[in-house]
Amino acid sequence: TLPARIRIVEVGPRDGLQNEPVPVSTAVKVGLIERLLAAGLTAIEVGSFVSPRRVPQMADTAAVMARLPPNPGGSYSVLVPNLTGFEAARAAGAGEIAIFASASESFSQANINASIAESLARFAPVAEAARAAGIAVRGYVSCVLGCPYEGAVAPQAVAAVAQRLVALGCREISLGDTIGAGTPDEARACVAAVAAQVPPERLALHVHDTRGLALANIRACLDLGIAVVDAAVTGLGGCPYAPGATGNVATEAVVADLARLGIATGVDPVRLAEAGRFVTDALVRAREEAARPGQSVQ
Ligand code: HMG
Ligand code: MG
Repeated sequence: TLPARIRIVEVGPRDGLQNEPVPVSTAVKVGLIERLLAAGLTAIEVGSFVSPRRVPQMADTAAVMARLPPNPGGSYSVLVPNLTGFEAARAAGAGEIAIFASASESFSQANINASIAESLARFAPVAEAARAAGIAVRGYVSCVLGCPYEGAVAPQAVAAVAQRLVALGCREISLGDTIGAGTPDEARACVAAVAAQVPPERLALHVHDTRGLALANIRACLDLGIAVVDAAVTGLGGCPYAPGATGNVATEAVVADLARLGIATGVDPVRLAEAGRFVTDALVRAREEAARPGQSVQ
């Protein structure tokens, strides 16, 4: 049976913007998050505390957080790769952090310069510090349906990393098809393998739409008990360490598709469209500005 309701985690301000080559101002990021909130998206990933040399677009995450409206009952989450990032997240008042591991060794190395085992060892004190501070922890597993460097990834490898993240204290595990490589059958097999180890109500699906299969992949997993879907307004995004991958599945498309199935999301499509127009206009202006003669593109 299908769920009555799915919680959408809006990742546009982080996953959507992190790969944007042209600098997007703090004011635009804040304006986007305000509009997403107004559309009924209360779980929003607002940035990341990672190396600013690696991901320059996220360097102003603390400034973004300082200007966000209150979000009682909801959550503003940030990606954190290590204790340095955790301390910055705590200082910025984050109510939730996300630690991010991979099911593929090569992607783990490229993305966070650590093997899978090293990354989990690095995340352990982060999760412990978060627990002590009363900050919720979400865990990502990347490359669950394929790796940009290694190709196929076994569902058992995904399940093993997911289980480790739960053991570290993650309350929710987001399964990332980082490069949008998966098919509905593969998505279903992966979620089923993970759900054998982790209660499915603690699983989120995080799909990128490189091959146009994102919605089909979500549909294929709905009756397995997943409760959460990650999406980015207008389908923004991509990962700088996943060459060729496109953006996340569009929040607009997920909301509409789930509504067709009678599944509630609590998102207002009209106000969501306003958030989409706002960020699209802002990105067009930022790109035009960067392309003006005499200006250098970062
Ligand atoms: P490292 O390269 O191993 O080196 O970093 P380091 O630990 O020695 O640090 C290098 C520099 O970064 C140093 O500065 C540190 O101080 C600084 P320098 O001395 O060179 O000036 N640094 C930091 N600065 C700010 N905040 C921090 C921090 N940590 C170190 N937290 C590290 C390892 C993990 C930090 C680095 O590789 C990194 O930042 N990687 C970020 C990767 C990233 O953000 N990727 C995109 C997000 S993941 C994704 O998109 C997938 C997802 O959407 C799910 C899916 O689709 O599958 C989540
Ligand atoms: Mg992603």
